Amino acid sequence: MSADTDTAKRRIAFQKSYSQEHGGNWRHRSLIEDAKFETVTNMEFEKRERHISSGEPISEVEVSHVQNGGEAALALDGLKVHSVVITLKDGIGNLARVMRAFENTKLTIQHIESRKARKKNALYEVLLQCAGSRENVISVTNTMHQNSHVLDVTILGEAELEKKEQWFPCHISDLDQCTHILTKFEPELDCDHPGFTDKKYRERRKHIADIAFSYKHGDPIPRVQYIEDEVKCWGHAYRHLKELFPTHACAEHIEIFKVLEDECGYSPDVIPQLEDVSAFLKRKSGFQLRPVSGLLSARDFLASLAFRVFQCTQYVRHPSKPDHSPEPDCIHELLGHAPLLADVNFAQFSQELGLASLGASDEDIEKFATLYWFTVEFGLCKEKGELRGYGAGVLSSYGELKHALSSTPQKKPFEPASTAVQEYTDEDFQPLYFYVESFEDMMDKMRNYAATIKRPYEVRYDPYTQSVQKLNSKGMLHSVARNLKGELEVLQHAIDRIQSFSLASR
Ligand SMILES: [Fe+2]
Repeated sequence: MSADTDTAKRRIAFQKSYSQEHGGNWRHRSLIEDAKFETVTNMEFEKRERHISSGEPISEVEVSHVQNGGEAALALDGLKVHSVVITLKDGIGNLARVMRAFENTKLTIQHIESRKARKKNALYEVLLQCAGSRENVISVTNTMHQNSHVLDVTILGEAELEKKEQWFPCHISDLDQCTHILTKFEPELDCDHPGFTDKKYRERRKHIADIAFSYKHGDPIPRVQYIEDEVKCWGHAYRHLKELFPTHACAEHIEIFKVLEDECGYSPDVIPQLEDVSAFLKRKSGFQLRPVSGLLSARDFLASLAFRVFQCTQYVRHPSKPDHSPEPDCIHELLGHAPLLADVNFAQFSQELGLASLGASDEDIEKFATLYWFTVEFGLCKEKGELRGYGAGVLSSYGELKHALSSTPQKKPFEPASTAVQEYTDEDFQPLYFYVESFEDMMDKMRNYAATIKRPYEVRYDPYTQSVQKLNSKGMLHSVARNLKGELEVLQHAIDRIQSFSLASR
């Protein structure tokens, strides 16, 4: 097993235990909170790893998070790396003393190089890179100046730590590794979940969720024999919501919902199987479903969208609350998400959001998760001067759908730069929604926004190989240019043919 795999496994184990220990502080059930959660656990994990490898006491200066009304505030001092050159008068044996001084000042040494000194009266120059606060570096270098074995000390300057490049799936089958579930949302761990005290429900939910654990890319999605209670719950939500769709849902949802009823067995009496809905989506927009056993981390969830894969729960909410579920369930997925995923423009938007998230920093993942929240989950759109719902969170909740289009909540136009940092609440209906003029407009804005995030490369999805390519070499760019040239020529020929055909038929 490689060191990277070992680290990844340790990270996941740490996040799971952290989520259990801190479940009470992470009660929101959105992708945004998951992204924030991931940021905090990553920082805590790095801190702990450094502690293990160096024996250094865990410093609150380096990485800290402050729980304040459920919000996490992060101090990122620990991400600063400093380069210091120390000129030693005599033997390299004094290096151990120098290193100890750094360690004692809460600086984590990351890299050391030595060479023969170029200065007179000195034997060695040591380049030492350490992580920690600027104040501590200044403090330790001041101490060094008084060390009789040290001729000179120079701080080369601070540089932002080149964060290790984030791993991301490059082939659709790599999504088998993107199954990091946040256990904090499961009914066993959440006393507010309506199934918390219902052992029978929890066993049933677990039985269905377990399907996803053994699922691998390419497998057919196992069918679930839904029980009477589950079908009743589905039927209740279905009938209720269908009353509102004609006046509250966007045109795309209404149109595709009808096709789902005609071609995919949607009805209040039967819960459709994910495998059948997935096959339907593949035909319509190239999207497909993949079973998931709970709420995924924001990074993993967004990454799957890059491959036109939607990670979809299969279990049904608790029967005592047919109009509401604190976690995603198949009613939310199949009535809210599935219809829009069949729309080609919406599918394109979803995939581009996923592509933009690949390799992004934790901070940008939070922003993309927020954009996802205010579009795919709670987005509104304009139609003939009126607002309609297109977000799955709106379209799968009778109460929220009515509330969203009432005069109560605030509505603002979707602008990714400001929407991405908008605070939100999900303890109740949304107090604020963002609306778009059209899906094309939403996509254009998202493209412009995605181009501004810090990433040293652009990525592109190759549908023939179902893989993501980094556009980071001249050869790759030439290859893309050649393909585009070929497509432009086909387009030009098509225009020429249409023109000559219409001339000939006059
Ligand atoms: Fe959702």
